[in-house]
This record gives sequence, structure tokens and C-alpha cells, in this order.
Amino acid sequence: MIEVDDSMDIKKFFTGKEKIDKEFKTSLNPEKIPQHIAIIMDGNGRWAQKRQLPRALGHRAGGEALRGVIETAASIGVKYLSLYAFSTENWSRPESEVTAIMQLLVEFLKKEAMELHENNVKIHTMGDLSRLPGNLDKEVERVMDITKDNTGLVVNIALNYGGRDELLRAFKKIHQDISNGKLTVNHIDESLISNYLDTATIPDPELLIRTSGEFRLSNFMIWQLSYTEFTFPEKYWPDFKGEDLIQAIIDYQNRDRRFGKV
Ligand code: FPP
Repeated sequence: MIEVDDSMDIKKFFTGKEKIDKEFKTSLNPEKIPQHIAIIMDGNGRWAQKRQLPRALGHRAGGEALRGVIETAASIGVKYLSLYAFSTENWSRPESEVTAIMQLLVEFLKKEAMELHENNVKIHTMGDLSRLPGNLDKEVERVMDITKDNTGLVVNIALNYGGRDELLRAFKKIHQDISNGKLTVNHIDESLISNYLDTATIPDPELLIRTSGEFRLSNFMIWQLSYTEFTFPEKYWPDFKGEDLIQAIIDYQNRDRRFGKV
């Protein structure tokens, strides 16, 4: 088993550590900040391999990068941040790596819960939580409960998540509600399907960021990303900083979004 080295313990959130050049920040158009950004945090393994470190340390460094990105997102008024932390396919990684990621998630939630709460962040999840190890499931429930009334940034963590699995679960629930007479087939339209997804209370993302120069969706939010703008920064996720988030938003702000119209 890969031992997760705790020596890389990090400073707290919202310390203002994430110093972003003021001038750079003001090049953002405050009227066009995407309210929902989805992120595929890719490249942790390659970041570690490049340094001859175990992959688990890449994930730990990825957790650190996440702090800066959450802090920056909150500071510029992003309303929702969806994060692909663990997919339905990730179970087929070596058991030691799966264990390390699960352990990291538990630690992250344990350490950061109060800090997030004090900063009005609300934790939301998507995915089938029934397969998560008991300690992670318990921690997720606890943090969601602590932060449930918060009105600031919503951090939506995808755990045991797959876009196809989410649709499958939604279709089964719709079928159930037809069988028990709550719905008829005539009620089924796009907005009803959206309301049966894990993101029922969250608008679709305007911007998707996938780091590490890979150009795939990998089963992430396949329904919700239909009209989303995509950016693919080259950096590995652990190297991704608040400034890179701002750059991705500036790129987004320069796009012409037509939604199929002229
Ligand atoms: C993809 O990189 C990353 C993951 C499968 C795990 C993401 C998890 C974190 C960033 C940990 C922190 C998250 C939270 C929500 C606290 P990869 O392993 O596929 O990298 P590679 O493509 O270079 O191998």
C-alpha cells in the first residue's frame, strides 16, 4: 500500500495566500463571471511521476491546488464549482491508489470543514455515494450537514460519479415515479430529466476546465455540459493556480456563445 505522506500538510484556506496580481484580476469582466465552473482535475499521476514520487503524492498536491482554486473562485463571485474527484471508472485503479484517494478525501473534509463553513461555502455531492467506504460516506454527510444553510460558493464534489450512471439512476427514478402514479410519460421533457439528476438544484456549467492537455470528457456531466464552453490548459492539476482559473475565465469571456443560433 502507498503510504500517504502527511508532511505536505498545507496552510488553511482563505488565508489570502493565493496572491493574484490586481491588474490581472481587473482584466476580468465582472458582469460575465460564469456562475458555474466544472473542473476535471487531471494530471496528478503524471505530476508525481515526473518527480519520481508515488502517485498518491500527486493526488495530495492536487488537493493543495484545489484550495487555491476554491479561494479564488469564491473571491471573484463564482457560485458553483463542480469537481471530478472520483469516477465510477476509477475503482479499476490499483487498490493502493484507490485507498490513498479515499483517505485524502476524508482528510480534506475533516481538516477543511470548519474553514469552509466559516467562509460560507456549501458542500454538495454528486454520484452514487452508496459504494463509498463508510468513513468517507460519514464525513461527507457530516460536512454537508454542517454547511447546508450556507449561501456562498457551492462546492459540488463528484464521488463515485459517472455521467452515464447518473442518467441511468435518473431514468430508473422516473420509471418508479411513473409506476407509482406520480408522473405520466407526457411529463417527461428535458427539464424533468434535469430535475432527476444529482444536479437538480444547480444550473448547467458555463465553463469546463480539464487540465493536463487531455481533450476528453471521461463521462463527466455529459447531460449538463451540452452548451458549455471547454478549455484545456496544458498544466497538470497540481500546478494549476488561482491565476490559471482567472485566465480560463478570461478565455471564456472572449468566446461568442451562440447556443445553436446565428
Ligand atoms: C486525475 O489525475 C485525478 C484524480 C483521479 C483524483 C482527483 C483528486 C484530487 C485532486 C484530490 C483532491 C480532491 C478533493 C475533492 C479533495 P490522474 O491520476 O488521472 O492523473 P494522470 O492522468 O496524470 O495519471
